[in-house]
Amino acid sequence: MPAMPAAPDPFFSAATGAASAIEAMPAGGAAVCDAGALTVLYDGACPLCRREIAVYRDLPTADPIQFVDISRGALPSTLPVSLSRDDLLRRFHVQRADGSLASGARGFIALWAALPGWRWLARLGALPGVAPLMETAYRGFLRVRPAMQRTAAAFEPPSLHVPDFMVAELRSDHAGETGAVWIYRGVLAFTRDDGVRDFARRHLATESEHLRLIAPQLPWPQRSRLLVPWRIAGFMTGALPALFGPRAVYGTIAAVETFVDTHYQQQIDRLAGLPEAEPLRNLLVQCQADECHHRDEATALRGAPPGPLLRAWSAMVGAGSAAAVVVARRV
Ligand SMILES: [Fe+2]
Ligand SMILES: [Fe+2]
Repeated sequence: MPAMPAAPDPFFSAATGAASAIEAMPAGGAAVCDAGALTVLYDGACPLCRREIAVYRDLPTADPIQFVDISRGALPSTLPVSLSRDDLLRRFHVQRADGSLASGARGFIALWAALPGWRWLARLGALPGVAPLMETAYRGFLRVRPAMQRTAAAFEPPSLHVPDFMVAELRSDHAGETGAVWIYRGVLAFTRDDGVRDFARRHLATESEHLRLIAPQLPWPQRSRLLVPWRIAGFMTGALPALFGPRAVYGTIAAVETFVDTHYQQQIDRLAGLPEAEPLRNLLVQCQADECHHRDEATALRGAPPGPLLRAWSAMVGAGSAAAVVVARRV
């Protein structure tokens, strides 16, 4: 559901509470308690929406209700072509049998009218002035929705099969990717070198993507309890070399990624021969390929072999990364 609550809403006029052009499409607005067959358009990528729809889906209704996950796949052909997927995801929508659409509070009212046990809410919404009030409450919900989604997502079971022995490893991966994101934030906070800034921005995007892919495999209770220290450690690991110049930054990244490559390879080897864990293995292979690319790019940009100081610092970074993995596997 909605990610951009502040965007202008083409479906509902908050100022007047009046139905918009789309609300007023064929035989629309007044049918608060005359739902007929409905198509419910929901965001299947949102854990909040999935849970809510699961409550509605199994209720015995007079007319069959179609629940369509609009986060993926083709959109129903009955929808107006002028509506994009983003438009639809921005708010809750239902489509009535006559093709008319209702969104936000009016969408819920139309749905509740068709559900046994929920009709009293639809009747309440039909009272004068109540639908605009519900709409205001819905808009308030949209503002806190992203934070609620993040919290709900953190408690979701893994989206891929995770063997028991991989939980501790994934905890260290999640901690490591968190640290990696903060390394580049540390670099960007201090470097003024355009080449390093471009390098750090690109790598930051990749590490953020790794974190986005790994996080769903590790529900919040299983994550490292030391994420704040890992962020600080990551930031310092990027900030310190940034003060010493591009070669120090590239040398640091080469050292970190050399370690990360080995760390991922050990897990990839352990998952070999487990067909049910193949998707997780593929995810780690994908991350490892990016890390190797980071390492090679950093090594090439560093240029000449490191002097004694950079060698000592790189050894410290490698040892620190290894120690962090040992701790993150446990805590
Ligand atoms: Fe990464
Ligand atoms: Fe990396």
